[in-house]
Amino acid sequence: APGLLKQPSRLAFEAVAVTRADTISVPEGYQAKTFIPWGTPICGSYPAYREDGSNTAQEQAEQTGMHHDGMHYFPIDARNGKGQNSEHGLLVVNHEYIDVPLLHPNGPTLVDGKRTIPEEVRKEINAHGVSVVEIRRSPRNGWEVVGDSKFGRRITAATPMEIRGPARGHALLRTRYSPDGSATRGTQNNCSNGFTPWGTYLTCEENWANYFATQDSELPRELQRYGIGKTGRFGWDTLEGDEFQRFDATRKAETASGDYRNEPNHFGWIVEIDPFDPRSVPVKHTALGRFAHEGVIFAPTGPGKQLVCYSGDDSRNEYIYKYVSRDKFLPGRPDNSRLLDEGTLYVARFNADGTGDWLPLDIRDATFQAACAAKGIVFADQGEVLINTRTAADAMGATKMDRPEWGAVHPRSGEVYFTLTNNTNRTEADAANPRPDNAYGHIIRWREESPEHTGTRFNWDLFLLAGPEGDSRGPDNQPLGADNILASPDGLWFDPQGLLWIQTDMSGSQHSDGPFGNNQMLVADPDSGELKRFLVGPVGCEVTGLTATPDFCTLFVNIQHPGEGSTPDNLLSTWPDGPGKRPRSSTVVITREGWRPVL
Ligand code: FEO
Repeated sequence: APGLLKQPSRLAFEAVAVTRADTISVPEGYQAKTFIPWGTPICGSYPAYREDGSNTAQEQAEQTGMHHDGMHYFPIDARNGKGQNSEHGLLVVNHEYIDVPLLHPNGPTLVDGKRTIPEEVRKEINAHGVSVVEIRRSPRNGWEVVGDSKFGRRITAATPMEIRGPARGHALLRTRYSPDGSATRGTQNNCSNGFTPWGTYLTCEENWANYFATQDSELPRELQRYGIGKTGRFGWDTLEGDEFQRFDATRKAETASGDYRNEPNHFGWIVEIDPFDPRSVPVKHTALGRFAHEGVIFAPTGPGKQLVCYSGDDSRNEYIYKYVSRDKFLPGRPDNSRLLDEGTLYVARFNADGTGDWLPLDIRDATFQAACAAKGIVFADQGEVLINTRTAADAMGATKMDRPEWGAVHPRSGEVYFTLTNNTNRTEADAANPRPDNAYGHIIRWREESPEHTGTRFNWDLFLLAGPEGDSRGPDNQPLGADNILASPDGLWFDPQGLLWIQTDMSGSQHSDGPFGNNQMLVADPDSGELKRFLVGPVGCEVTGLTATPDFCTLFVNIQHPGEGSTPDNLLSTWPDGPGKRPRSSTVVITREGWRPVL
């Protein structure tokens, strides 16, 4: 609020101006260095990146994937969740999707709209997923990939995984690959992420639905409500062979375990990966619900407390969720991962008076039973509720939000912040989504009434309304200005001191000719209400993903899809390799002169 700006500013840097330069811009006194761009060898035989797109599918499975997104730095001594090493660690990075024209020498091969070359599609599958990269810093060379790492690993859209939680073994999860509904292959469209107090990584499956196709005219709700259509995004389903036909959800056999009608039900989950055990099988945790999971963020936890985490469903008019574990966290216990298998999933209702309610999606709960009965919605068991999370949330009358993206929890106050990136489909405003045709987005925050975050009541307000000077409101309740106009807030992260880092993902005309320049990253001080632009990315990129070393001297930021829409003959950006070279998604290492904490 006005009048709070009495303390010396904690944002001690000169704001970066809006720009359309094809480079990374950071404040004076800071350095930004490209690190592990798409195609960097990280495991196996460490095959070198070939800049003409001619790396093979197998080579891609030993290199970083495309489209870096959420990530986390695990200190090398953090096996059980703690750890302080700021010079040696595991950087775990999501690869959300691909720019298929740049992945191959001359783009994808299509004959009559169908894919014909299995090797090409295998490479596309292998460019998705997650990278576990062992990295070390030396004073002379800075951060480098450790060669011959025992941790280096690629998880792709084909890696075998286990399904756990209430939906494991459900009839709606049975497929030809897994007749008992307990296993699946691959994770994809991994947008944001989380990490557990026991030292594992969580990756979130967001826009998986459009990779599947079905020719059935009548679709069950678990396909319909998630938008499974007649054609798959890259046509993977048009190739013969089990590894591709699994993307075709059309009914072809007598039973569900004879075809892949249920394969889309294996996606839309949160997936746990133990980066310290390269042989571990990733786990899909069904208790956390099935939707377009943007990310997952934990409330502060400690020994003897229940786990609480939050996750947004990034589609227009979808919801924000909270999960509370049944059992309590005990550090050092080998089966803490089970906390993600037994608990209660809630969905948020934001009331007009600034209060809020967490509504349980639990078949044992009387209010849930009554809400379903009133709407004629029938669920046979909790597995079916979770596979149809969106339908269950509809039944409870949750608040339809303007595309819930990342969340962040203030390290001291416990207040939860969520970005709502935009929603041009909104026709009617409500208190929590106050602008119809919301092109610019906003950030909402709430404080739980229960100090442990486990209760069902909260109080909320709007932290900022993004937009240009004439249509915005900053954290200080003033219009935004030259130092901080932004649109489409997306990535969100609290640093250890309680400064809020905000990343943007504009697209379309807002991106190409709005007043905001290229996508950017800003820092807010919720205590003072200050907000300043810290970084602007190259042409056509999204700025996303953020993590730091424990000493806060290294900040890792991801730059996704620079030059989006490029083809080998028409490069819209040549960042980071320079003139004539294909653009590459990449991590950027941000450091400060004199090796001091970044802020
Ligand atoms: Fe992957 Fe919602 O951005």
